[in-house]
Amino acid sequence: MRIAIAGGTGVVGSYAADAAEDAGHDVVVLTRHSGVDVMTGEGLTAALDGVDVIVDALNLFSLKGSVSKAFFATTARNLQEAGNRAGVRHVVTLSIVGMEGVPRYPYYAAKLAQEAATQRGPLPATILRATQFHEFPAQVMQLSHRGPVAFVPHIRSQPVAARTVGAHLVRLAAEQPGGTHELAGPDVHDIADLAKRFAKARGLSFRVVGLRLPGKTGRQLRSGALLATEGTTIDGPSFDAWLGSEDAKRIPL
Ligand SMILES: NC(=O)c1ccc[n+]([C@@H]2O[C@H](COP(=O)([O-])OP(=O)(O)OC[C@H]3O[C@@H](n4cnc5c(N)ncnc54)[C@H](OP(=O)(O)O)[C@@H]3O)[C@@H](O)[C@H]2O)c1
Repeated sequence: MRIAIAGGTGVVGSYAADAAEDAGHDVVVLTRHSGVDVMTGEGLTAALDGVDVIVDALNLFSLKGSVSKAFFATTARNLQEAGNRAGVRHVVTLSIVGMEGVPRYPYYAAKLAQEAATQRGPLPATILRATQFHEFPAQVMQLSHRGPVAFVPHIRSQPVAARTVGAHLVRLAAEQPGGTHELAGPDVHDIADLAKRFAKARGLSFRVVGLRLPGKTGRQLRSGALLATEGTTIDGPSFDAWLGSEDAKRIPL
């Protein structure tokens, strides 16, 4: 099968690309670096030639909700439309567990718009909602690290390894399209605590400070709105096992 991984050089996309290659699929990576801009559509139609399934692992983080929303809604629509023209038969989109429970957080509103645009078709779609990655505390520190301090919000989460998410995306790509699936790791943690543990394990020079985000959104994030619900697929490794792995050691920080 020929699989196009949109965002195939990102944290989860690169694991999805590896998993697809390991499973014997032919992999096409759609990123700006590889000459495909999914937002403008540049290079997209040509890159989808002969592709059977698209995995959408694109990302753009912006504090401005309007920017994130335009990105996720437009890229989802472009993948659907260009994929339909190219004869693609299935789109698998990566999303996030529990977003409805934090409705005022602009990034989640943007991800909900992405899910809606994907499900609008015309191609059949499968949604995989994952919890925060084991890599997520490090991703937050990459963004928030200033001088001797990095601020990381207190979020109750049941995180999962990005490598595990990549493998499940590829598994779903090979199955019949349809449905929304949920995936989480084995244990519940506070993301700020995990950031401190990651920084200690890596001997990072800056101090990690846990941040209590204000208002209703902050309370929702701290009180477990993003936790896995009943019926969620649970898959390892645990954060502890992941922290000792090569995957954790090679994160640039
Ligand atoms: N982080 C988490 O804890 C978590 C949890 C659950 C779900 N998710 C979801 O997982 C997805 C991937 O997140 P991530 O953290 O793995 O992403 P990431 O590391 O930030 O990677 C983003 C990828 O998107 C590509 N990209 C960005 N803009 C593009 C454009 N206009 N055209 C083509 N490619 C573009 C980037 O490549 P170029 O820069 O070369 O274009 C890169 O390959 C997101 O949708 C996120 O919501 C994340």
